[in-house]
Formats: sequence, C-alpha cells, structure tokens
Amino acid sequence: MVSIQKPALELPARPHENPLGIRGIDHIEFFVNDCEQWAAYHENMLGMRRRCQGDASTGLVGRRAVVVGQGRIHFLFAQPEGSGAQADAIRAHLAAHGNGVKDIAFRVKDVAAALAHARSAGAKVVRPMDEHEVFIGASIAAYGDTTHTFIQRKAHSDFAPGYVNVPGGIEDEEIQLMMLDHIVANVEHMDEWCDFYARVFGFEQTAHFDINTGRSALMSKVMGDTDGYIRLPINEPSSRNSQIREFLDGYNGPGVQHIALLTPDILSTVREMRARGMQFLEVPGSYFDMLPGRVGQIKEDIEALRELGILVDRDREDGYLLQLFSQPIFDRPTLFYEVIQRRGNSEGFGEGNFRALFEAIEREQAKRGTL
Ligand SMILES: [Fe+2]
Repeated sequence: MVSIQKPALELPARPHENPLGIRGIDHIEFFVNDCEQWAAYHENMLGMRRRCQGDASTGLVGRRAVVVGQGRIHFLFAQPEGSGAQADAIRAHLAAHGNGVKDIAFRVKDVAAALAHARSAGAKVVRPMDEHEVFIGASIAAYGDTTHTFIQRKAHSDFAPGYVNVPGGIEDEEIQLMMLDHIVANVEHMDEWCDFYARVFGFEQTAHFDINTGRSALMSKVMGDTDGYIRLPINEPSSRNSQIREFLDGYNGPGVQHIALLTPDILSTVREMRARGMQFLEVPGSYFDMLPGRVGQIKEDIEALRELGILVDRDREDGYLLQLFSQPIFDRPTLFYEVIQRRGNSEGFGEGNFRALFEAIEREQAKRGTL
C-alpha cells in the first residue's frame, strides 16, 4: 500500500551556484485578519518575542503590522488598514486565501543584481526595486499569489521603514526555536516550480518522494541551495483524495503548506508548547510500540516521545530526526507548523513517518475492528 521511492538527483549541476547572491531567509510575511491576535498567538504558543511593529502613525501605508520572532526566525503579520491600493491588495488576498503566507523574503548581497538575474531567468517582477534608509527591496512572483522579496540591508538595527523596534524581551528558555529548517509549498504542477527554483535561484533538486498511503497520495521534490541551508520541498497531489488537494481547495490555489522550525531540544520545546495549549496531530500509541525496531538506537527515551507525541525517522546510518506537526493554525485546513530536531547527519524530512503513521492507524483500526 505504501510506496516511497527516492531516486538520485535528476537535474544536472547548475551553472551558477548562487546567482541571486542569497545570504539566507530574512523573514516570512503573513497576511492575516488581525495582526495583534496572531502576533500574540505566536508569542504565547511558540515563545516568540515581539521585535517591531507599525501602523499609519509610524508611517506604514495601508497596513498595521507586527514582527515577532525567535533565534533567526522572523514572522511579519500584516492586516489591511484604511483605504488605498495597498490595503485593498491585502483584503483581496484575505478574501481569496484566508490567513496565510504572502511572502518568503530572502536576504541578498545586491538587490539590483538579483533582480537583473531573476528577470533574465524569466521571473515576473511584482514590485520594482525601491531604496530606503535601512534597506533596498524588490519582489518577484512565485507559486499562486505567493511572492519572494529580495532584501539588501544597510543597517541591522531597523527592520524596515515605518516599523518601530519594541525593546526588551529575552528569549524563551523552555521553547527554543533557532531557525527555519524548511518551507513547504503545495502546487498543482511540481515540475513547473522545481524548474523555476532551478532557473531563477540556481537551486538543485536534493530529494524526490512518491508517497502513497492508500488514503492520500502526493509527490514531492526538494529544491535547495548548494550549501543546504535553504530547503524548499514542493508537493503536488497525486490522488483525488490527497491532503495536497484538500489544501489547494481550502487555500483556493497554491501556497505555503507548512513551515518547519528547527529546535535544539524538541522534548523541552514541545512539552512547553503543549502546556501553553498548542495543538498537535495525534499519534496512535502503536506507532511508539514499533519505534525501537524501526529506528534502532536513539538518545531519547521512548516513553517521553510517546507522552509528547514526537515522531522519529532515521534517514542516515549516522543521523535521525525528531518531528511533530501542529494542527492547522488558521480557520481553513491550510498552514501548519512542524517542530523538528536533527541528530547527527540527518538531512531528511520524515518520509518514513508517512508509512509508520499509516500502519499505526491501520493497527488501531484493526484493534477497534473497523478495518
Ligand atoms: Fe516537513
């Protein structure tokens, strides 16, 4: 029933290793109905801290916005405010998609050079280059209504024009989030977007999964930079009942499906998130009965993993990952978070857990006599 195939690299090596001069992910921008509510949610449930905020009184046009974050993760929540084209664009996005990710912004060495390359590689420019005191920015279209902004920062103290820093707030001690591990897109046609990231970003395909659990089928390719710091898996539905299809219907088009947050201590982080009310996907008890046989020797106590519902997948002889998935964050069955910790040389995404979870669900059904 369950098949997972992992062919080797399919694309030839890229002529340019980093044609956009990407230095990393700067921030993720969400369009939401209520930026205060969603900033507070991330502060309360995910231990993030408020970093800056703005509205008309501080010079923002058509929006009210709050930036929260932890470690190298920065989330910008923007809601429409007042009238005008900028506010209307956010309202239209919300009407079409509900709350969700609008933009994945990359820090680049030189926006002008990045934009010139992107344009020549066929990217559609949706916001021309503009220069401010603190940064230079420009944006291109990606899948669906999602965009990518290129940001070149001149000063590190300020986020962007119209935002004022919120001082103070030491990092959370129980919930430890360091950086984004991967950001997953759901699209209609995976290869079109793999080609886009190869052509425009110079990314390489690092993995390919064809997953069929009988209940839900999907195909996934992982596009990433040559250093392995940026990983963008891209999914497409391969059955009518696919969870990817459910997302595409719910979000009304392609978009960001999940964001994986890397932690150095998943036990402490998830224990605290659960204590604060964060809701995660339930894991059948029999998943953990089979765990030692499936993943071999691990450092963590199986009973602690069972208590917290943390999944394990071994993707290397000398590496494994621990992960779990939240319930959808917003009203629609769209965006969710993954909390992930990597041990050793783990580079996977938890492919083995698809099969293990499916089999665990079947065992539970058999126990109940409903299979
Ligand atoms: Fe993931």
